[in-house]
Amino acid sequence: MSLSAELQSKLDNTVTVLKKIADDYSPATFANSFGAEDMVLTDLINQHNIDIGIFSLDTGRLPAETYELMQKVSEYYSKPVITYFPKTEAVEEYVRTNGLNAFYKSVELRKSCCFMRKIEPLRRAIADKKAWVTGLRREQAVTRTELPISEWDADNSLQKFSPLAEWTEPEVWQYLRENKVPYNKLHDKNYPSIGCAPCTRATSAGEDIRAGRWWWENPESKECGLHAKAANS
Ligand code: ADX
Ligand code: SF4
Repeated sequence: MSLSAELQSKLDNTVTVLKKIADDYSPATFANSFGAEDMVLTDLINQHNIDIGIFSLDTGRLPAETYELMQKVSEYYSKPVITYFPKTEAVEEYVRTNGLNAFYKSVELRKSCCFMRKIEPLRRAIADKKAWVTGLRREQAVTRTELPISEWDADNSLQKFSPLAEWTEPEVWQYLRENKVPYNKLHDKNYPSIGCAPCTRATSAGEDIRAGRWWWENPESKECGLHAKAANS
């Protein structure tokens, strides 16, 4: 493998952080959205056989390409990804009251959709865990520039780790290519950041990484609440 010295050092640190999480915060779990960063972490946890569980939040509105990758990952790696779904009654109630695509109508309705499809299932996924791990990076958004590698998640009462906080986007891709890691095909179609299908579009040259997420909103409101501190800062 021929990674730059800087990336090799970040990689070594990341593996050290992941092993320390497994040693000191068991049981710990990794939130996997199957985006590029999360595929780096999926690969590292599997390759180094690190004792951190993996879960994913299936909102029911993910793009077909994400489901394809989920299937591929289940065949490619040995560690299972546990899927959490929103509560059926909550989805039925929301859609009956507000309509299927109500998230376009207001930030409030968008956030309540994210709450019912992501936040409530996240709470179940991390209940009884000592730490959770995310693929967040500082570079990703104005809301994430101060992101620490390790922080106390007061909203959920457990430690939260973002081991890739200092990685750049080219570094993520260098790792994925060098290691032939499977990735979401939407990344080849100008989707640097991928969420639910109706709330993600391709970006054009010069736009920032998250310009295609909730593109009708201001950059300051573009968090779904999974990362509450980022959303409030
Ligand atoms: S979001 O808050 O805007 O949706 P983003 O897509 O940037 O987040 O992902 C940031 C991190 O949040 C991911 O690296 C992952 O750890 C977690 N995450 C986001 N979406 C999901 C999901 N559907 N399932 C599990 N984890 C997720
Ligand atoms: Fe709902 Fe869009 Fe949030 Fe997905 S990203 S949970 S579809 S508002």
